[in-house]
Amino acid sequence: VSQFAIITDSKSHIKKAIISKKVVPDLALIDTVPLMTMDSYLTACTGMDALTHAIEAYVSNAQSPMTDIHALEAIKCVNQYLEKAVVTSPNRALLFQLLLASTHAGFAFSNASLGAVHAMAHSLGGLLNLAHGECNSILLSEVIDVNFSAVPERYRHIACAMNLSVAHAPDKVVKDALIERINQLRINLGIPNRIYIPSKTDEIVLKLTETTQIDPCMVTNPRPLTDEEVGGLFEKIIVESTSE
Ligand SMILES: [Fe+2]
Repeated sequence: VSQFAIITDSKSHIKKAIISKKVVPDLALIDTVPLMTMDSYLTACTGMDALTHAIEAYVSNAQSPMTDIHALEAIKCVNQYLEKAVVTSPNRALLFQLLLASTHAGFAFSNASLGAVHAMAHSLGGLLNLAHGECNSILLSEVIDVNFSAVPERYRHIACAMNLSVAHAPDKVVKDALIERINQLRINLGIPNRIYIPSKTDEIVLKLTETTQIDPCMVTNPRPLTDEEVGGLFEKIIVESTSE
């Protein structure tokens, strides 16, 4: 339902975002049947992708009251149903709730765009051929950590939508509780917190940082991130597989 299409250029190893009203479909089929045979790990990763769409749209500097409604609804729904849908055997009622969440998140980010999680995930996925939802899951709490101070009230609303009792808590408590819930969600879904590659070099981190900074999703991140910040995040989440 969005105006986004992501194309992988397999020669340059770059994922390019095409953003145009012409990409918005005339008709979208919201059907649970194809999801019934999906691997549960893919359900976990795509569910976390939908959550990331909603959170990034909610804190985007292009958000609006209309995108907020869809983003918060998606956040509530993923928070309530994703773990259940992944741990139980395929269940159409639960998968429908996730499809609905994903559609709400699509309406939100189609109009508010995304942020640094997606810019970095596009970069990682293109260069290292990694699963998009898995990259987002690993990056989400790390990016909240660096973005939080730019829009603390927005993150407070997100935490409340995720059922955390932080409506009147100090910002630091809100930030810690939100990061903990997102990390716990990832752990409950069996998604790792690091990306393991055979050989990690400065050149890889530099290339990833460069492509992240020119990704269109970076424009709507709630604050600009420096090359050092982006590079530092890649340094942290990418681990050489032989070293652990
Ligand atoms: Fe995504």
